[in-house]
Amino acid sequence: MAREGWLVVASARRANLLADLASAAEAAGGSGKIQPLPLDVTDAAAVKSAVQMIEEKYGTISCAILNAGTYVPDQLETVTAQQIADHYQLNVMGTMNCMLPLVPVMRGRAGAQIAIVSSVAGFRGLPLSIAYGSSKAALINMTEAMKFDCDRLGIKLQLINPGFVKTPLTDKNTFAMPFLLDVDNAAQRIARGLASRRFEITFPWRFVVWLKLLRLLPYAVYFPLVKAGTKNIK
Ligand SMILES: NC(=O)c1ccc[n+]([C@@H]2O[C@H](COP(=O)([O-])OP(=O)(O)OC[C@H]3O[C@@H](n4cnc5c(N)ncnc54)[C@H](OP(=O)(O)O)[C@@H]3O)[C@@H](O)[C@H]2O)c1
Repeated sequence: MAREGWLVVASARRANLLADLASAAEAAGGSGKIQPLPLDVTDAAAVKSAVQMIEEKYGTISCAILNAGTYVPDQLETVTAQQIADHYQLNVMGTMNCMLPLVPVMRGRAGAQIAIVSSVAGFRGLPLSIAYGSSKAALINMTEAMKFDCDRLGIKLQLINPGFVKTPLTDKNTFAMPFLLDVDNAAQRIARGLASRRFEITFPWRFVVWLKLLRLLPYAVYFPLVKAGTKNIK
């Protein structure tokens, strides 16, 4: 997006990696820029201040992409309550900590757009995904619910449900990930989706189509099918 001329304020907790990202964008050229803004989205007060600061220092926010998330594969014998709480604290509450202060400043603004990154893992319960899958399912449901309000408030709200993308998050997986995409490919698909009128930005289609079909199956078919398809996953 910086290459295409946007001023991108990029947030995460690790300032050094944000600085590297900004330098890489500068080296790549383009008419835009990446402006690092270290931030922990689980700190609601800090996010609220950051929204105000961005508006004052860099100009009005026209597009917000709420992307921070975590995934730790889990199984019932070993998962801890803290692990589950951490997923909900970041994946659900971190997203809402951003959403809540953004809405009052963006409502009614021409071109206002917010995109929430969930996952195809939120479509249905899957092995190794007790905390992650359910937190992403919550996010999908919440984004659907908020769409009604955003339509009223003049904000274009979109839901991003990627399949597997090669990042430090998926490097934890020891199984072969079907249709794994690289980051640039995924980013380009997201950028194209953001420019579209679609509510859901989901990819790659060859994977998503199966997951959408699985979503329709009755439990009596769903469980044996997923069990058979994931029997080598540990
Ligand atoms: N990779 C996939 O296959 C895939 C598929 C579907 C959906 N997703 C979703 O896509 C999003 C990005 O995933 P990814 O694969 O890029 O994961 P990642 O490689 O683990 O990156 C996560 C990003 O979130 C930031 N972050 C983590 N905790 C944060 C916090 N408390 N406050 C602010 N930033 C925080 C991290 O930076 P710091 O650690 O420096 O804060 C990092 O930049 C997540 O929501 C994930 O669930 C990923």
